[in-house]
Amino acid sequence: MPKRSPFFDNEDQSFVLYHGDALAILSEMKDEQFDLIVADPPYFLSNGGMTCHSGKRALVDKGKWDVPGSVEENHQFNLLWLKECQRLLKPNGALWVSGTMHAIFSIGFAMQQLGYKLLNDVIWYKSNAPPNLSCRYFTHSTERLIWGSKNKKSKHVFNDALMRSFNEGKQMRNVWVGTDEDSAADLDLWKITAPSRQEKRHGKHPTQKPVELLRRILLASSHEGDLVFDPFQGSGTTGIVAHSLGRRYVGIDQEEKYLKMTVKRLNSGRIHPAVTRT
Ligand SMILES: C[S@@+](CC[C@H](N)C(=O)[O-])C[C@H]1O[C@@H](n2cnc3c(N)ncnc32)[C@H](O)[C@@H]1O
Repeated sequence: MPKRSPFFDNEDQSFVLYHGDALAILSEMKDEQFDLIVADPPYFLSNGGMTCHSGKRALVDKGKWDVPGSVEENHQFNLLWLKECQRLLKPNGALWVSGTMHAIFSIGFAMQQLGYKLLNDVIWYKSNAPPNLSCRYFTHSTERLIWGSKNKKSKHVFNDALMRSFNEGKQMRNVWVGTDEDSAADLDLWKITAPSRQEKRHGKHPTQKPVELLRRILLASSHEGDLVFDPFQGSGTTGIVAHSLGRRYVGIDQEEKYLKMTVKRLNSGRIHPAVTRT
């Protein structure tokens, strides 16, 4: 763990939060300690463009942290944090990263440059995505995730039998669907809906991930007792799901308000919604 004091830790130190710049804190951490890293880094999409929010035009503004630099600067940033995360993974550890087209190709390339072994790319399909008001593009309705192990020698965890048990005994595919019932029936059974009001009742984060997305990731690729890390943890979705599944957790964010939100979510003791088996 870094030398600095944590912003928060619970009694048995199974849930620890650090406040500050991820690159600085990562550099203070010792090698090979995490079983699984789940990262939702800056998307670099707050570039002055417009989006549709509750049916109205709105500026894309997730926060200062999401403002893009040049293509080279963004890639350099991705290389730096991915290199540190690779060092922090145990030999059989693995990493998940989520993102949109603004950053995910740089992330995938950086992972290849660093010698991660790419395991899967996953498409998270949001069937309730807002319309594209400019009518000059297809509606953006997906996010991607890349799953990779530390290197080619790593023996990564994949709980295939458990995933099948949520999928009528069939192997689970790499397209994970949102709310549309018909598509869900075609593609997959365990629906990943946008965060519910219940999930947001402790405050709003502009890019909060749904509990079910993290639940699928953690159930698929970690074991009880594993140490899970999220270097850009936001409202702490990775952490609260990890905690609910008996994993230990370390998270970092540079915004104190999001760490406070995470502690509230943790202390509320309930996670919504529960995994659904349809
Ligand atoms: C995409 S959001 C993560 C959202 C999270 N998955 C959730 O469910 O709430 C990225 C987070 O990274 C934080 N962040 C961005 N750059 C950072 C940096 N250099 N160091 C630490 N935190 C950073 C932001 O404050 C933001 O909360």
